[in-house]
Amino acid sequence: MTVQIALLSDIHANLHALDAVLADIAAQSGIAGRYHLGDLVGYHAYPNEVTARLGEAGVPGVAGNYDSTVAMHYKHCGCRSENPRQEELAHQSFAWTLATVTERTRAALAALPFRLDVRPLGGHVAGPTLILLHATPTSNLVYVTEDRSDDFLRKMAEQAGAKAGDVIAFGHTHKPWHRVVDEVLFVNTGSVGRPKDGDPRAGWTLITLGGAAPRAESRRVPYDVAAACAAIGAAGLPEEFAETLRTGRA
Ligand SMILES: [Fe+2]
Repeated sequence: MTVQIALLSDIHANLHALDAVLADIAAQSGIAGRYHLGDLVGYHAYPNEVTARLGEAGVPGVAGNYDSTVAMHYKHCGCRSENPRQEELAHQSFAWTLATVTERTRAALAALPFRLDVRPLGGHVAGPTLILLHATPTSNLVYVTEDRSDDFLRKMAEQAGAKAGDVIAFGHTHKPWHRVVDEVLFVNTGSVGRPKDGDPRAGWTLITLGGAAPRAESRRVPYDVAAACAAIGAAGLPEEFAETLRTGRA
């Protein structure tokens, strides 16, 4: 028996991308569950609508750094900036998001768990565990990029308590990749609403459990980028955020 799970991360208030991904998942047959890996808000125009949509659609998930810092009225999203302009944009995005989220949204973000463990084949047998995080088992701020060493990933597995056959899934970098180290599958699910790998299409990842070994497949979905960009302009958010959607690059 195999079970298929859809993972979506880093939606970042992009309702157009989220709806396209939810429709794409619904069009596949046999997907048993959907989970998000955090960063529901930030950068784009629909933080309240995205948070509500996931609630209505019954998609549980974990807290990204953006979610937890907005929920805690923190002073910054904790995102890393590479130059002064990026830092200025980060502050603009955070201030706009803080001013725009409703108390209902803030409460929903505050209630997100740091980590979720799923046993799609049932917890009554020693089946594989799908460990859902935003970044690492100890922080939702660390960037787990594709060039991280096997030793780095081994340490993550140790901190997470993962065993051979398990899956550790995360997002945060907005660039999808996956790799097996010591029979643990590490999966970066990419980004639904703000991809940075040069492909502007919305991304999500399909996990298959229950075969000889777990598998990950990165999926991309075209969506109405022009409409998402128009909403960014109408909200008074910086043009750079629309440019990232058009190019798929930060
Ligand atoms: Fe993110």
